[in-house]
Amino acid sequence: PPLTEVLNLHDFEAIARQVMPEKAWAYYSSAADDEITIRENHAAYHRVWFRPRILRNVTHVDWSTKILGLPSKMPVYITATALGKLGHPDGELNLTRAAAKHGVIQMIPTLASCSFDELVDAAVPGQAQFLQLYVNSDREITKKFVQHAEKRGIKGLFITVDAPQLGRREKDMRMKFEAEDPAEVTDNKQQDRVDRSQGAARAISSFIDTGLDWKDIPWFQSITTMPIILKGVQCWEDALLAYDAGLAGVVLSNHGGRQLEFSRSGIETLVEVVTKLKEKRGLAFPNEKFQLFVDGGVRRASDVLKAIALGATAVGVGRPFLYAFSSYGQDGVEHALQILHDEFEMNMRLLGARTISEIVPEMVDASSIHQH
Ligand code: FNR
Repeated sequence: PPLTEVLNLHDFEAIARQVMPEKAWAYYSSAADDEITIRENHAAYHRVWFRPRILRNVTHVDWSTKILGLPSKMPVYITATALGKLGHPDGELNLTRAAAKHGVIQMIPTLASCSFDELVDAAVPGQAQFLQLYVNSDREITKKFVQHAEKRGIKGLFITVDAPQLGRREKDMRMKFEAEDPAEVTDNKQQDRVDRSQGAARAISSFIDTGLDWKDIPWFQSITTMPIILKGVQCWEDALLAYDAGLAGVVLSNHGGRQLEFSRSGIETLVEVVTKLKEKRGLAFPNEKFQLFVDGGVRRASDVLKAIALGATAVGVGRPFLYAFSSYGQDGVEHALQILHDEFEMNMRLLGARTISEIVPEMVDASSIHQH
């Protein structure tokens, strides 16, 4: 269908299912084990309801914000998703270019199909990018990569901490990962030691260091001055450790349901993290010094606004952009961002919030989310 008939982010998934190569669909859409967690990521947002305010002159509403101090046209960033060329020959470049047009930040994945430098080169002047880091067991490789990224102007280092081993994604495992695949990782020097027999995820993950530990955090802080954020924190105890370690924030995430099956959704974890960090360290959120991000299952601006109300600085969106470029290239991603833009305008008006800072905890009822 023409893009004008694509009305929301869910539509992209239904279209992509029809037009994407089977192998790409399997890799992008799959999640761990019985795929309960990926469904829960959506369901969790259904437990949070709004308490809108009325009569507040909402003629002008503005949902722009700052993420790690960088301007963003909306409290949304494009999160890291590997192997973009499985879905489209331009791969992650579709995301870089659309992000530029819409003034949002892209997180470049370690396992992008395009080379890191290609994605940095494609950014327009002033366009901020983050880097998602998988830590190599060969720390020299990681050090070089991180320092190169900083030199190239990357503004935040998101270390993925929920994937010492890749989750069991059976849809993907049923596909053989062919060596001649155009999406083959070319730039990461690890392709000579990969296991190609069980799908894309296993083939690309064999280099990830299972030994990564809290003890390594000072080393990361010693090799870079970029703000460091842990991606994949799933309880308040670890958020507190990250804060005490002097990190810049955490992404509360279960990796889009692709890692530990039955790990709670980010929005659920957010509630306990905000409560406990206030109780233990007197922090108030959103907080400039220690920022909370959430990802997983976000498909509507209303989902984003719930997370903001509960204390998140911004929210990551993954699969919808993959489905968008797999079906329509860069235009699809731009359309997805435009849909979010329009949804923000309407939802902010209906919520009675003129700016992001007017979105306060009292605007949601999250009482059906458990405390821990
Ligand atoms: C991911 N994600 C991910 N995360 C990461 O830290 N490094 C990576 O290489 C990838 N790769 C990846 C590939 C694909 C196909 C998907 C769908 C996801 C996880 C991603 O950053 C994010 O946590 C989730 O995608 C968010 O959930 P939604 O928005 O996809 O529901």
